[in-house]
Amino acid sequence: MTSPDLVTRPQWQALKKHFAQSGQQHLRDLFAADSTRSERFTVEACGLYLDYSKQRIVDQTMRLLRELAECCGVPERIQAMFRGERINTTEKRAVLHIALRAPAGEKISVDGRDVVEDVNTVLDRMAEFCEQVRDGTWLGHSGKRIRNIVSIGIGGSDLGPVMAYEALRHYSRRDMRFRFVSNVDGTDFVEATHDLDANETLFIICSKTFTTLETMTNAHAARAWLLKQSGTEHAIAKHFVAVSSNAEEVQKFGIDSAHMFRFWDWVGGRYSMDSAIGLSTMLAIGPDHFRQMLAGFHAMDEHFRSAPLERNLPVLMALLAVWNNNFLAAATVAVVPYDQYLKRFTAYLQQLTMESNGKHVTLDGKQVGYATGPVYWGEPGSNGQHSFFQLIHQGTRIVPCDFIGFGQPLNALGDQHDVLMANLIAQGEALAFGKTADQVRAEGTDEALVPHRTFEGNRPSNTILAAKLTPHALGTLVALYEHSVFVQGVIWNIDSFDQWGVELGKQLARKTIAELSPKTLPNLSHDSSTNALIRRYRQLRDSDHPGGVA
Ligand code: F6P
Repeated sequence: MTSPDLVTRPQWQALKKHFAQSGQQHLRDLFAADSTRSERFTVEACGLYLDYSKQRIVDQTMRLLRELAECCGVPERIQAMFRGERINTTEKRAVLHIALRAPAGEKISVDGRDVVEDVNTVLDRMAEFCEQVRDGTWLGHSGKRIRNIVSIGIGGSDLGPVMAYEALRHYSRRDMRFRFVSNVDGTDFVEATHDLDANETLFIICSKTFTTLETMTNAHAARAWLLKQSGTEHAIAKHFVAVSSNAEEVQKFGIDSAHMFRFWDWVGGRYSMDSAIGLSTMLAIGPDHFRQMLAGFHAMDEHFRSAPLERNLPVLMALLAVWNNNFLAAATVAVVPYDQYLKRFTAYLQQLTMESNGKHVTLDGKQVGYATGPVYWGEPGSNGQHSFFQLIHQGTRIVPCDFIGFGQPLNALGDQHDVLMANLIAQGEALAFGKTADQVRAEGTDEALVPHRTFEGNRPSNTILAAKLTPHALGTLVALYEHSVFVQGVIWNIDSFDQWGVELGKQLARKTIAELSPKTLPNLSHDSSTNALIRRYRQLRDSDHPGGVA
């Protein structure tokens, strides 16, 4: 069904007019005029506290944004997702990551089959396997305990597991080593395995399709590495397991289906960290903690499904993202977690947000006439303050920020947690209120330096607080972003669940690989730059003196 162009909708036009009339109001004035602002623009749910009062909005902005969400069918599309409709239209698939964390007994059907039962069967198998590895019942082929887990995957089959392992490292088994290999650059595999004893190492090959070039290349390298050290094919059964939706390819690779943990085509790669793709997470933190994480995801799912739009955390985050992206014309978003354990959180979000909403056509295939997904980036605080924050405070672009922090530290060290959180709180304040030239002068600053030391402020941010970084809290946080991404996609009328944009590069790489390997250069039919790069690469590779010095 063709939907009306977003920008011609009266609700969009009303927002445009509203922005033209009041979009430049300064946060300084908005706060001064309204002592209840912080209360009114704060929402709490599932243990997360979202303060969005430092966004450049007023009541009318939020009302108009909600009207936009309603006319774009956000409430209906949320329900359609939960019903298991095929809302990933270009791949004709249901989108049911919410079923991965639905409690046993709940019913969600795909083609008449209850998928929650399937999910729980896999979860039980994962738990049994993880207990066996963790308690030493599962031994390597030589009878040694498994002490090293190497997870091989890429994209959604890597970023979620890496992020979750780092985020929940505090809860992990410290007598086991967890390594992750994703890059087809041999360095990744070599560095991850150079100090490991193959007899104590378990490889988890994570790939939804089990055909991804990088993952299969690394999986074969792992196989060769194991065989070289163990000297027998029999070792494979005890040292390799697979996580995939493609049983046939798993078997072809030589992994028995008894050692395969399944997931399904209705789980998108970037929405899969709580499926069997999280096997390394479960091995690290144990089945109980893993289930607590799932409960956190589920709590946010229920909130998302049932809370009214004005108190719905993912919907609010999405509406603010649309406001910043399309009306304030902010092309990027910085996500800055003030927690060292969340050091890979932004990298994980980059795939979630940009592979989902980096789209240029609508669901009906028409060129969009507005900006879609912004660029996500960031680093943990307070490190980021000493690198890129200069631009956020005084640069010429607006960079909305999400600050994430916790009330209680997992590693209390003197008053360091207070220092950390004081920095988080101060950044939002500095960005919103800035410092006027008069304030700078009042400090006795040399007049020539006044412009340099002035902060215009009015730079928007969200602050998300939770009590403590627990598995449950991580689940709620990830689900918050997952659903926010979906709502943004609904408003932009794009398919947030496909990823056709990654295909062209893959096809061309395959063609180029075939041109790099033969001894003699084949006929090249690319553009002149690509042809020259291929020639130069081959020359450098084959030269006895690649640095040009004998
Ligand atoms: O190339 C992008 C992508 O298809 C992602 O969407 C996916 O998460 C990743 O590759 C890995 O895919 P697979 O799990 O099938 O190996």
